[in-house]
Amino acid sequence: MEPISRRLSRYNNYNFAIGEYPPTAEYIDSLQRFEIRDSDIFLVTYPKSGTIWTQQIIISICELGGGLNEYKNNYEQMPWLEYRENREDYALRPSPRLFSSHLIPALMPPGLKDKRAKIVYVTRNPKDNIVSFYHFSKVCADLDTPESFEQFLEQYLMGNVVGSSWFDHIREWHLNRDQYNILFLRYEDMILDLKGAVVKICRFLCQNLSEADIQQVVEKATFKTMKTDSKANYEFVPQDKISGNFMRKGQIGDWKNLLTAEQSERVDQLIKKKLGDLSLKFIFE
Ligand code: A3P
Repeated sequence: MEPISRRLSRYNNYNFAIGEYPPTAEYIDSLQRFEIRDSDIFLVTYPKSGTIWTQQIIISICELGGGLNEYKNNYEQMPWLEYRENREDYALRPSPRLFSSHLIPALMPPGLKDKRAKIVYVTRNPKDNIVSFYHFSKVCADLDTPESFEQFLEQYLMGNVVGSSWFDHIREWHLNRDQYNILFLRYEDMILDLKGAVVKICRFLCQNLSEADIQQVVEKATFKTMKTDSKANYEFVPQDKISGNFMRKGQIGDWKNLLTAEQSERVDQLIKKKLGDLSLKFIFE
């Protein structure tokens, strides 16, 4: 691990948060031998793209589908693959195992390429992603505190943040999509049609829920309900780690309150330059 700032270290071209339990090079390497089970479900995102929201949806679906072991909150139920902290050995977890990850394909367990275990990948438009990441960096002790929005934007666009470059993350996962059993979702589509997203995830996970159960998942995943759900809202994270909310605004278009016209144009140009050949569409409002 090569330290690149007070709270950031780089390994294999990817930036990790140092945090209380920094991932070691040995542990990240060991993921190349991590045994995947057919029933494993991975949620992969670039940070601040709707991870805890999608966790809530997947967990609620699996709970109603039956057979899910109970953990005290969504963080324990769907732990981060790369930030192992001092949890139990994942090999001993009962199936189905649920994991979250911000990793790029090259660092993921190769067993996922058998295409039996499932990956849900959520993308968010980069302008709202930048704004969400900026606000979160101000309240999260494990992230470098931005000096200003302008300074954060520079770091983000250079990929000097946890998760490295948003552009590379999106690119790598889309270029490698054929190697995995993967469902791509957009945060904005989830905002615009939450039920539609829940139905898509149910189908992908082969969970045949009743209409009433689907409605229950939708209700549990609304911003309003989730914000008061102590298992899902991440308010269980101690105040000295996160002194603000994981669940901040949950909207499309908040970037308009922070990005100047020039900054917005710069992001548009970078999307064209770095992702233009992939014909991806992002929803900005
Ligand atoms: P904002 O900061 O724009 O409000 P992640 O979980 O990947 O860290 O992403 C956090 C973002 O997802 C935050 O965005 C948060 O408010 C939003 N979010 C969390 N739960 C949500 C929900 N139920 N509906 C909509 N957005 C949600």
